[in-house]
Amino acid sequence: MKDGVYYSEYLQLDKILNAQTLESDKPGREHAHDEMLFIVIHQSYELWFKQVMYEVGSVMEIFSKSKISDNSPDLYMVHHRLKRVVNIMHMLVSKIDIIETMTPLDFLDFRDLLRPASGFQSIQFKLLEAALGLKMENRHGKEYYISQLKPEDAQIIRDAEKTKPLIALINEWLERMPFFDDTAYWKDTNVSSFWEKYKEIYSASLADGEKNNLAVFEKQLLSEGSDPDWSLSPKARRAALFIMLYRDYPLLQLPFGLINVLLEIDEAISIWRYRHMSMVHRIIGMRTGTGGSTGKDYLSGALAKHHIFSEFAGLTSFLIERNKLPQLSQELRSKLGFGE
Ligand code: HEM
Repeated sequence: MKDGVYYSEYLQLDKILNAQTLESDKPGREHAHDEMLFIVIHQSYELWFKQVMYEVGSVMEIFSKSKISDNSPDLYMVHHRLKRVVNIMHMLVSKIDIIETMTPLDFLDFRDLLRPASGFQSIQFKLLEAALGLKMENRHGKEYYISQLKPEDAQIIRDAEKTKPLIALINEWLERMPFFDDTAYWKDTNVSSFWEKYKEIYSASLADGEKNNLAVFEKQLLSEGSDPDWSLSPKARRAALFIMLYRDYPLLQLPFGLINVLLEIDEAISIWRYRHMSMVHRIIGMRTGTGGSTGKDYLSGALAKHHIFSEFAGLTSFLIERNKLPQLSQELRSKLGFGE
């Protein structure tokens, strides 16, 4: 055998493969076969949460810069890594099929030995939600959400919530988009007349039952003041809508991809929540969770409420058809294109 790195040492398999201690194997208890699956599944989820946090952390670091240059790999990296997060989340959804091979009776063999432990106490999952931008006041159950944690772990979550989350960093990045403030790009017209014209076209596109959308459009996009409940300011929303509308221009393709991947993350987490909730219903019915919550009802509330990037999805209500888009100035078109 050659010298150098040795597989099992490099991966520290001695630690990982010796970390499955079944509660049901403790003295005086009856071995429960499926407890091994239960432990391995949870451990593998935690490993993947670690990878997801690693990717999200690196993306947040890039967005924390005061400027992201179009001539750097930054935006590509952000998109690439978040796409990886989406793929991991899809894989985590599919692993629920494996848990579901454990029947309710199999679970009952060891369920009571686990109290009060629960995935509800997953620090990494709560840290991920906080890093993306879920705030305590918007959490289903509010403070209850951290009540099942040890005080030092609850503090870790509170501290994480004080750090600027990804959605706030993206809001700032959108607010910095140069194409509205720089008068160099709007010589034959100006930005406010662009939005006035857009409003007219949008208003004409609304069906009778949608007329109220115009007031929402004005409040969310054209007003200057931001609502404390909003994650995206009107300025950032204008930039995001502009990116969605003119995404065929080369310079806007990656920013558009980024907005899309954020929506994919929200969707993938929601699908995971839904599959987890249905699995829970199937395995424990309407009984309370080992973490002490109402079980399925708690999970259903979290599923309905815990969306982080939904304000981007909301912007699609303000789109107009491509062939009605206001024509951009020559300067702006050449800035967004390849300079012809
Ligand atoms: C037999 C399998 C499982 C059952 C019966 C189950 C049950 C539950 C229940 C009832 C809750 C609500 C809190 C409580 O009262 O405990 C919960 C929360 C949670 N579980 Fe599971 N779970 C299972 C598997 C998993 C797995 C494999 C993971 C992966 C890490 C996981 C992660 C979570 C997370 C992150 C929460 C918090 C969700 C939120 O607050 O929105 N669970 N689980």
